[in-house]
Amino acid sequence: MTRQHIVFLTGAGISAESGLATFRGKDGMWTNEEWVHLASTDALYNETQKCLDFYNWRRKHLAEVEPNVAHKIIAELEKEHKVTVITQNVDNLHERAGSTEVIHLHGELSKVCSMDNRTTCVKEYPLTTPIMVGDKAEDGSQLRPYIVMFGEYIDSMNVAIDIVSMADIFVVIGTSLKVYPAAGFINYAHHEVPKFVIDPGEMNQCTDLGFTHFKTTATEGMKMLLEAFKKL
Ligand code: APR
Repeated sequence: MTRQHIVFLTGAGISAESGLATFRGKDGMWTNEEWVHLASTDALYNETQKCLDFYNWRRKHLAEVEPNVAHKIIAELEKEHKVTVITQNVDNLHERAGSTEVIHLHGELSKVCSMDNRTTCVKEYPLTTPIMVGDKAEDGSQLRPYIVMFGEYIDSMNVAIDIVSMADIFVVIGTSLKVYPAAGFINYAHHEVPKFVIDPGEMNQCTDLGFTHFKTTATEGMKMLLEAFKKL
């Protein structure tokens, strides 16, 4: 296969085999109503330390897990292709596997920002250092996780849509496609390019659009994808 621009849209499922919980499946994070609340702007502003502690727990857990084979195969593809990863995940496992073009739609656990303006004072912050009430960003406001909370808007949508529309190959991995705008991205891939979806669940919204469905886990599906690439 000659050099292609391969675009991946990933969700929590790609990190499941690394030991990070998904959101909506059995034992999904959002089955815990308290956690849904702590991921909201209401908790951030009105129960600040409880919200920060929820994210301190998620950040510390992220430091204890590793990228899996699926993350690593995606990173390896950069040796022969242009690869862009558009992820809904806030973990840094794509980057730690070696991917260099990663767009995070919902923020990043490994970064912090200003409580006054989430798009400013953004910087890397050690995953094992708790963020406490009283810790300040450079603008003097309270430090907060660089995460898009429930109730906040997503910044990089148009960039992501342009990238999907220019993909030579489009691959969706490990997302229930329940959250917009990411869920709508599947409609922007050119109808003639090869499209694949890797997920153990039903993905009719993709197969109805002509996606080839590898109904399996991310690690097994990525190996099947490499075999499929040989036939393109
Ligand atoms: N390999 C591949 N896919 C898997 C695996 C696995 N091992 N295990 C589960 N999945 C699939 C599930 O079948 C499901 O389709 O991963 C998907 C996970 O869906 P969700 O839990 O809804 O996660 P996601 O789609 O990433 O959620 C999107 O919702 O609340 C927001 O910010 C949150 O980024 C998140 C967004």
